[in-house]
Amino acid sequence: MAVDGNSVVRVGVCGASGRMGKEVVKTILAEDGLELVMAVDTHNAGMDAALNAGLAEPCQVSVEADLQTALQNKRPDVVVDFTAPSAVLGNALAVIRSGARSVIGTTGLSAEGMSQLEQAVAQHKTAALIAPNFAIGAVLLMRFAQEASRYFDHAEIIELHHNQKLDAPSGTALRTAELMAEAQPKFGKTNVASDKEKEILAGSRGGTTESNLHIHSVRLPGLVAHQEVIFGGLGQTLTIRHDSLDRTSFMPGVALAVRNIIHAQGLIYGLENLM
Ligand SMILES: NC(=O)c1ccc[n+]([C@@H]2O[C@H](COP(=O)([O-])OP(=O)(O)OC[C@H]3O[C@@H](n4cnc5c(N)ncnc54)[C@H](O)[C@@H]3O)[C@@H](O)[C@H]2O)c1
Repeated sequence: MAVDGNSVVRVGVCGASGRMGKEVVKTILAEDGLELVMAVDTHNAGMDAALNAGLAEPCQVSVEADLQTALQNKRPDVVVDFTAPSAVLGNALAVIRSGARSVIGTTGLSAEGMSQLEQAVAQHKTAALIAPNFAIGAVLLMRFAQEASRYFDHAEIIELHHNQKLDAPSGTALRTAELMAEAQPKFGKTNVASDKEKEILAGSRGGTTESNLHIHSVRLPGLVAHQEVIFGGLGQTLTIRHDSLDRTSFMPGVALAVRNIIHAQGLIYGLENLM
């Protein structure tokens, strides 16, 4: 295992044929000190992973359909997962049980799933990172929104994504709300009481968290991943916004996570805890 900082980190990508997985394959192939040793996807199995990702030259790593077999044969140090909410827990548990470290970008993991992962990483003395957003700007947006929540007790979150996204609200929006609630346990205290507010069209006020933050999810073709947090106060508003214009925006964070998780232990939630 590459833990001394000098050796090469052997990396696997799960979801290698997906929009994010293809970017990750290209990133791992381009980064010094990282070696792509495994590519798994139920789609396009048998294809060379680099050609599958749109590169001109093959990398001699084929996309494999079965994660268990791939883990046994390729023995990666770290596996990056960008698959689907329905697949991520099973994948991550298989990775952890193989002794490898897991970098999870897939969103939609339940609290129960996270607690299973926590137990598994402790039992196998390894590490897993769950990062709702790998874009450094989005991590900063979450930090700034948490800071602003100390001064504003009225805020709403609007997240905007491409129309193929499976889960709503986004993992980033949920994580942002969680961090904001640490600074401000109850938002919108002076709003019209929710039992008096009349939604003419169900869902118009969005989803509501325990801390009374409303989250609105927009899904449109043409979008990638965007988020606004709007704060309201006496005679003023403050808007904090981040836009991922392209999937490459996530890649510096993914590379950082792959390098740094080698030295980590346990379950880590949020890229900021590995930066
Ligand atoms: N954390 C972040 O920064 C971030 C950024 C963008 C997207 N995401 C999340 O990443 C996930 C993937 O997004 P995407 O746009 O690449 O999706 P996608 O649908 O384009 O790709 C998912 C890929 O996973 C494969 N897959 C599904 N189940 C599998 C399994 N059991 N084993 C192996 N492969 C499997 C599919 O065949 C597909 O190729 C989503 O949950 C999305 O919300 C996270």
